[in-house]
Amino acid sequence: MPCYPGHFRRPSWLPWGVISAGSAEGWRASRRAALKGAVLLGAGATVGLTTVRRAGGLPADPFTLGVASGEPAPDGAVIWTRLAPRPLAEDGRGGMPDAVIDVEWEVAEDAGFASAVQRGVTAARPEAAHSVHVELVGLRPGAEYFYRFRAAGFLSPVGRTRTAPQPNSVPSQLTICAVSCANYEDGWFTAYRGVAAEQPDLVVELGDFIYEDGRGRRGAPVVRRHVGAEPAMTLGDYRLRYAQYRTDPDLQAAQAAAPWLVVFDDHEVANNWADETPAIPQPGFPERRAAALQAYYENMPLRSSAKPVGTSMQLYRRVPWGGLAMFHLLDTRQYRTDQPCNDKLGSDCAERFDAAASLTGVEQERWLLDGFAQSSSRWDLIAQQVLFAQLDLTPGPGRSVNPDAWDGYVAQRDRVVAALAGSPVRNAVILTGDIHSHCAAEIWQQFDDPFSRRVAVELVTTSIASGGDGSDTKPEIAAALPENPHIRYFSNRRGYLRAQITPAELRADFRTLPYVSQPGAPVQTGASFIVPDGDPVLLNV
Ligand SMILES: [Fe+2]
Repeated sequence: MPCYPGHFRRPSWLPWGVISAGSAEGWRASRRAALKGAVLLGAGATVGLTTVRRAGGLPADPFTLGVASGEPAPDGAVIWTRLAPRPLAEDGRGGMPDAVIDVEWEVAEDAGFASAVQRGVTAARPEAAHSVHVELVGLRPGAEYFYRFRAAGFLSPVGRTRTAPQPNSVPSQLTICAVSCANYEDGWFTAYRGVAAEQPDLVVELGDFIYEDGRGRRGAPVVRRHVGAEPAMTLGDYRLRYAQYRTDPDLQAAQAAAPWLVVFDDHEVANNWADETPAIPQPGFPERRAAALQAYYENMPLRSSAKPVGTSMQLYRRVPWGGLAMFHLLDTRQYRTDQPCNDKLGSDCAERFDAAASLTGVEQERWLLDGFAQSSSRWDLIAQQVLFAQLDLTPGPGRSVNPDAWDGYVAQRDRVVAALAGSPVRNAVILTGDIHSHCAAEIWQQFDDPFSRRVAVELVTTSIASGGDGSDTKPEIAAALPENPHIRYFSNRRGYLRAQITPAELRADFRTLPYVSQPGAPVQTGASFIVPDGDPVLLNV
């Protein structure tokens, strides 16, 4: 086992396994050990050690929301948890006292924690809903690790994470799962259970992790009830919404199985919001947005660089996976210009060709195009929310679109396509969520010209639960597909996308569930495609 100065120490504590959760004696022993161990440990472990805190006295196990990790780098990742002994407490504070609580954390190379490599103590603060985000450093590249937390004598579940490969190394395979749209009321999170079973290297979450409104307002039968206010408006409301979602054991299993890369869409804040404009005009939207973003940060395994400032947070970013893949994670909500065509699904208007209309804002677009220009990756994966490909919803003559998607921002889409085509990007893959359907599309330089150049493929993952049980197709989409020959697959089933990426090809498996109205559905494969290196086409498997 290699030794990293300042981080690796032989275990000098009592093994965690011998300390019984909740035992006062065990806690005192571990508390002494924590202080002793933390003094011995390096920089990552010194947080808050000079402050004396009361750590005991929680009414029950505070680890009801599970654990998560994210933002893998070659030398580390973020590990996350949030303390909530009463997760459904109405005020969203999870039954926590208004006090700072010490949380110990431990990282090991094995799930049994026989070979711990790092330990430390961090502070769970009431102003962050007692969430903790530990940014690990000093780990080995391309390696699997296990982590857990301890607070007030209680042990958390164990999470598995990985570091990214060394820069410029080209690993032989990367397996990712992409997920989106998990409306708790619409069904069971069986698809998350399926993601956990895949043991992917990475999970990419493309938005609608929660829904701010419920009670059947989105049209599907209510399978499970949200608790709390509808819609969520205050910081307490959003905190409670995340807490309820995070009590789900299938969600917890998926979050504990692999590091996640997350980006939000609309329902983490409000339906179809665009910068300062929600779909439904309302007073106090800036305050609501600030509350929603604060709760999002508290509940996601993000780096402190994403911490909200006022009504904004820095969410768009790039995450490399050695020389094999580069993830460009987009934020298509905070900087977007208002949707054209009155944001009416199935409409058309001249405004959607407006050169100034933007899903990303000017600065993020420049950043994205710069990223393409500097690409040296085998695969560039653009992880974002709304459908990129043209989708004409009107069978026969005439055209109608979803103006909330890239079809509402055609000039910007043309700029992105032109930039991809003129860049060193070798393989562009767009990962999309939002539409509660699986969809596979080729991105043609001119969608209306079947002989035009193929510049990318788009893989749209369906919802985890939103929309309920679903169906193999939708009649209105089936009727419109002949208008859209670049779209190669569509399914209205729930599920997730699995992609296995090698230097030679990307294999996409659209995983589907026959139902979500009952728990325990089997996971099936609706369709599979190969994208060969150097040729952005979808080959049927
Ligand atoms: Fe959604």
